[in-house]
Amino acid sequence: MMAAEYGSDDGVIATNDDATSCKACAVSLGYWKDPYLPHVYPAAPDRRPPEINRGFYARTHSIFLLIQKFIQVTKGDCQIVNLGAGFDTLFWRLKSAGHTPVRFIELDFSEVTAKKTHYIQRSKALLQAISDDDYDIKLNRNNLHGFRYKLMSTDLRVLSEVEAKLEESEIDYSLPTAFIAECVLVYMCPTKSSQLLNWIAKKFKSAFFINYEMVNLGDRFGEVMLSNLRSRHCDLQGAAACATLQSQEDRFVQEGWAGAEATDMMGLWERLPRADVSRVMRLEMLDENELLTQLFSHYCITTAWTDTRWTEITL
Ligand SMILES: C[S@@+](CC[C@H](N)C(=O)[O-])C[C@H]1O[C@@H](n2cnc3c(N)ncnc32)[C@H](O)[C@@H]1O
Repeated sequence: MMAAEYGSDDGVIATNDDATSCKACAVSLGYWKDPYLPHVYPAAPDRRPPEINRGFYARTHSIFLLIQKFIQVTKGDCQIVNLGAGFDTLFWRLKSAGHTPVRFIELDFSEVTAKKTHYIQRSKALLQAISDDDYDIKLNRNNLHGFRYKLMSTDLRVLSEVEAKLEESEIDYSLPTAFIAECVLVYMCPTKSSQLLNWIAKKFKSAFFINYEMVNLGDRFGEVMLSNLRSRHCDLQGAAACATLQSQEDRFVQEGWAGAEATDMMGLWERLPRADVSRVMRLEMLDENELLTQLFSHYCITTAWTDTRWTEITL
């Protein structure tokens, strides 16, 4: 199946530039430390409003803490697969905090992986972390195989391609594996995202999923969010699954996952370590608390598991 059958993916691919630029803004203001981000985003970031910066802090920090727990619980004997990883630096941030899974695989469209491969090749800091004395990094224009870190181009809507790329990355279906999708499934048509979730649940012996995306899209604020994204040539074909927290959970259970739990960002904000949240709240004044509350109630994290061992991975 050719990706061309889906029409242009340019709008979806461009969402990575936007996400990376928002992360770069928040990092430049001190929301969290990421010495690796300037290596994949060398430009000076545009200033974003405080509620957007807090939103990116809550999202990045929550995902980091959940994945850190997964690696700790499995004592590192696990794999992480980041679906639609964009220019995310999670592998490097985890490694510098001493958390190294057996394999860390990133998948995205070739337009994105080609640029990321280029940035990694140019950066001593990024290269060093994926190297090992006895391992030669293998790379071509769109793909890179480091010692534990693998960056592969694929279209997530084409299961045969996903499977082939994971196998090229020497995936071990019997190892506990955590999947991350940060604002990715919503850009896929529901049939394709369901097939992917179903395939993961069947194929992996023990899987955990962290899905960050929109929720409550049916209300007025949600409709405005949707139309803003659509005006940027970004069709949110998967919006139906983002209707409610229940629909976010149901999409996993319907595809064979043992359980799922969705929490909006308002709820997760309350659970983040208080000292750090207090620090972050002093960084910038918020003109309007109402806007932050609205924004946080329109994004959520859903965790899903095929193995009840992973129900303990919460914030
Ligand atoms: C909003 S960006 C998020 C990037 C990254 N997860 C983050 O949070 O910074 C969405 C990413 O998903 C990727 N993506 C969306 N649909 C995809 C598909 N069908 N196949 C591969 N990648 C896809 C896009 O190229 C883009 O990099």
